[in-house]
Amino acid sequence: MSLLDVRGLSVGIAGKEELLLRDVTLSLQPGEIQGVVGESGSGKTMASLALLGLLPPSVELRGGTAAIGGRTVLDASRRGVTRQVGDLTMVFQNPRGALNPTMKVGHQVRRVLTKVRGKSKGEATTETVALLRRVGIPGAERVAGSYPHQLSGGMCQRVVIAMALAYRPRVLIADEPTTGLDVTVQAQIFDLLRELVEETNCGVLFITHDLGAVAEMCDRVSVLYAGQLMETGTTIETFEQPRHPYTRFLLESLSPQESSRLTSTEEAGVDFSLPGCRFAHRCAHAFERCSDFPQLFQAGPQHLYSCFLGEEEDDVAAQRSQLA
Ligand SMILES: Nc1ncnc2c1ncn2[C@@H]1O[C@H](COP(=O)(O)OP(=O)(O)OP(=O)(O)O)[C@@H](O)[C@H]1O
Ligand SMILES: [Mg+2]
Repeated sequence: MSLLDVRGLSVGIAGKEELLLRDVTLSLQPGEIQGVVGESGSGKTMASLALLGLLPPSVELRGGTAAIGGRTVLDASRRGVTRQVGDLTMVFQNPRGALNPTMKVGHQVRRVLTKVRGKSKGEATTETVALLRRVGIPGAERVAGSYPHQLSGGMCQRVVIAMALAYRPRVLIADEPTTGLDVTVQAQIFDLLRELVEETNCGVLFITHDLGAVAEMCDRVSVLYAGQLMETGTTIETFEQPRHPYTRFLLESLSPQESSRLTSTEEAGVDFSLPGCRFAHRCAHAFERCSDFPQLFQAGPQHLYSCFLGEEEDDVAAQRSQLA
């Protein structure tokens, strides 16, 4: 059984037909770090917010379910399904925005320890300083008494990660946790994520634009484009034998240095109201079938991709086996 099992997740803008996420399927195993990649606007953050039950007011859940450890935590057809404390937490793209500006950062970490983990105040105070040290904050005691605006972005992100460590979630979503941080700090934060997984056997969805980091960190990778899951598989299989034209495009066009050059899905002119494959208008292989929404085809036991070329490949495989 998967630790996290997301099926058919769809969200749309209230009052409009457009779907920002369409029929997204994801699964995550305990102890797994899974990369989630795709250019800006592909729905990586939106999918995470949907799982957390934190969609913006103008955005609504249209379909799908999610379960953590077999227990339903999200069901578009039922209201009132909730997560349990400790199921899921997220390290946000903008760490300063994720911290309460009016509260000292040490107090924010301590609150997680007392409220979520049931620690006494004394235990929580000691553990807060230990956690801040652990995420590489020099002068942890002094920093604990600082407000977020007194700290750099990198320091704030370390505090947020200390909070995630304090939380000990079963599933952690790390949304571009190292954007804007220098390379040394990035490396430390990657190490921390790995340690967290080793220690607690949690699963991590690691959202990033950095395919090099995915190759280094992730067991599996899922590729999103314009709210559609394009491909998911082991990192090695997906990077060495990408099956979806979009994955190939992403791998060919993207080095970390170049990622800022990529257009966003809006700039690429994706029409979120069209029923077919979201990549069709940019795809060199597009054909008539692509005006329908492609199902997921299986390229291997763990390797799925959403493209009608799969149908053709299946036909060829079937013909070959008939000839054999
Ligand atoms: N509050 C909102 N209301 C309506 N649409 C939104 C809102 N926030 C984001 N969107 C749209 O939802 C889509 C997915 O956005 P999302 O922020 O999830 O992309 P992303 O993959 O996280 O991009 P990035 O890599 O830039 O962080 C985009 O088309 C975006 O314009
Ligand atoms: Mg985002």
